[in-house]
Amino acid sequence: MTLHPSDALERKKILEEKFMCGIVGYIGEKKAAPILLDGLTKLEYRGYDSAGIAVDCGENIFIEKTVGRLDALKDKLKNRLPEGTVGIGHTRWATHGRPSDSNAHPHTDCHGNFVVVHNGIIENYLPIKEDLIAKGHKFSSETDTEVIAHLLEEIYRGDFVEAVREVLNKIEGSYSLAFMAKAHPDILICAKQDNPLIIGLGRGENFIASDIPAIINHTRQTYILNDGEIAVVKKNSVQILNRQGKSVDKKIFHVTWNAEAAEKGGYEHFMLKEINEQPKAVRDTMSKRIAKDGGAIILDELNWDKNFLDGIDKIYIVACGTAYHAGLVGKFYIEKLARKLVEVDLASEYRYRDPIVDEKTLVIVVSQSGETSDTLAALKESKRLGAKTLAITNVVGSSIAREAHQVIHTWAGPEIAVASTKAYTTQLILMFMLALYMAQICETLSDERIRELICRLKKIPAQISETLSDVEPIKTFARQYGFNEDVFYIGRALDYDVALEGALKLKEISYIHAEAYASGELKHGTLALIVEGVPVIALATQKSVYEKTLSNIKEVKARDAIVIGIAAAGDTELEKYLDHVIFVPETDELLIPLLTVVPLQLLAYYAAITRGCDVDKPRNLAKSVTVE
Ligand code: G6P
Repeated sequence: MTLHPSDALERKKILEEKFMCGIVGYIGEKKAAPILLDGLTKLEYRGYDSAGIAVDCGENIFIEKTVGRLDALKDKLKNRLPEGTVGIGHTRWATHGRPSDSNAHPHTDCHGNFVVVHNGIIENYLPIKEDLIAKGHKFSSETDTEVIAHLLEEIYRGDFVEAVREVLNKIEGSYSLAFMAKAHPDILICAKQDNPLIIGLGRGENFIASDIPAIINHTRQTYILNDGEIAVVKKNSVQILNRQGKSVDKKIFHVTWNAEAAEKGGYEHFMLKEINEQPKAVRDTMSKRIAKDGGAIILDELNWDKNFLDGIDKIYIVACGTAYHAGLVGKFYIEKLARKLVEVDLASEYRYRDPIVDEKTLVIVVSQSGETSDTLAALKESKRLGAKTLAITNVVGSSIAREAHQVIHTWAGPEIAVASTKAYTTQLILMFMLALYMAQICETLSDERIRELICRLKKIPAQISETLSDVEPIKTFARQYGFNEDVFYIGRALDYDVALEGALKLKEISYIHAEAYASGELKHGTLALIVEGVPVIALATQKSVYEKTLSNIKEVKARDAIVIGIAAAGDTELEKYLDHVIFVPETDELLIPLLTVVPLQLLAYYAAITRGCDVDKPRNLAKSVTVE
């Protein structure tokens, strides 16, 4: 079978990544280290905070690792590149434990006999670690991964493959793993569960990788591992086993992507890839934060109680750009569900306007990168004024994560396109969960309502997938209206907040002038701009203000605007008045922003394509703004 970018299923398989660390492995006749470093370089686009390699050197397994970029690793390896021909390498995106030399992979057991690199999360690592420490094992990192190497040491009785199988039976969670053992220099073993892993097949050499770009310069013949499979990789053979240790017959997949397409998982742009990753990013962000019985939100990172929240009389949410728009939705959630007063502020304004902040203030900063200079400065200022601070960020160990008193992470994985998409939806998820968590503590919602909202929340990833499955009408609208100079977005309540984000997306990447207005404000000025043929995107999902929204839509329609409606499935009214309606699946009106934003992201994307814009790197903009 041929692996082609348009093959959605295969592409999905490759995109099934939990956290986007990188793995490379080599076994053959050539020096392993340069191949590993080259492979890791090809995975740099995925983002990482530390890197390392392990190479078999006969006497011992050589390991070098460092926090920071691959260049820092190459510097450390200068004039001491190991000669060995078998090795594994890793780029880490921190989850358990901050980015540091010791937390970087590879990890080893107590004696350096077993070496492992890992993408994903071992959920039950704590009890395993406690048990191993009780048995005398010495740990040298804060990672969940290190338990795997020590478990191997504990279990190994001479059969490497069997020991790995036993280890896999003991760990729970998601992983792609690659192993080496000093006593078995002719074997690399790897295993997959919920994280991608491929084997590259060469002549007299074989490769392991978490993603195709890492090996595409060496071979296009691959095995794509399925969940539960283990591969025993030697230089002249590859054997795939299932969990029970039985051999699996595997078909070879021939990769036809070029290197550039491979980096983007076969998508034309990172932005489109990231839009499509949203179901997974959202699922990852909520997973482990919902009680097993679906009756409560668990935010282990926070230890808030009624006393703490009673002591807070004001909440600020402070952020920039898309994160600010997520903050607006957060205000709505917290006020509605937890009945706490929230102000949302742009970090660049907040930091200079002498905000009224004291020890009874909670300041929540939101930042994908955790490095935005205005947001960081606003956080420092809040701390100086005595506020309690909480950061919502996507990057473990970032400046904002380190500075805030408390942190909750979105698990969106690295976001590369300048225009933020999956970071926004994961921020919305955390805002919603935080509001519910506060409602639980303050008892502002009944248990039934909490349960009902959690039930709706759990359906959101699948509903985003559903929304993503029908892009053709959106492409058509973008083509039809892609060259208009002005587009207006209108909505009320949460629809207005999403309209702001939709307009920002269009501006950022297609350079079309776009404005979002609260529908009720139209009559105070903007209506003067609505004339024949002007495109208006009208969001109408908020039941409590539906009739009012409808009359605003009729107002713009009466001026002969071209109106595209965004509505929830089951809405039979809107179509009667509008030229086009895009439907998203039905959910609670609080959660619907997670769905309505998706067609708006796609509309911006396809409008930018129609206009021939550089989607991933729009002019004048940067992904992370670390200067004022
Ligand atoms: C830049 C990016 C935006 C982002 C904003 C805030 O302007 O282009 O996409 O929303 O910074 O970034 P942060 O990393 O703090 O969320």
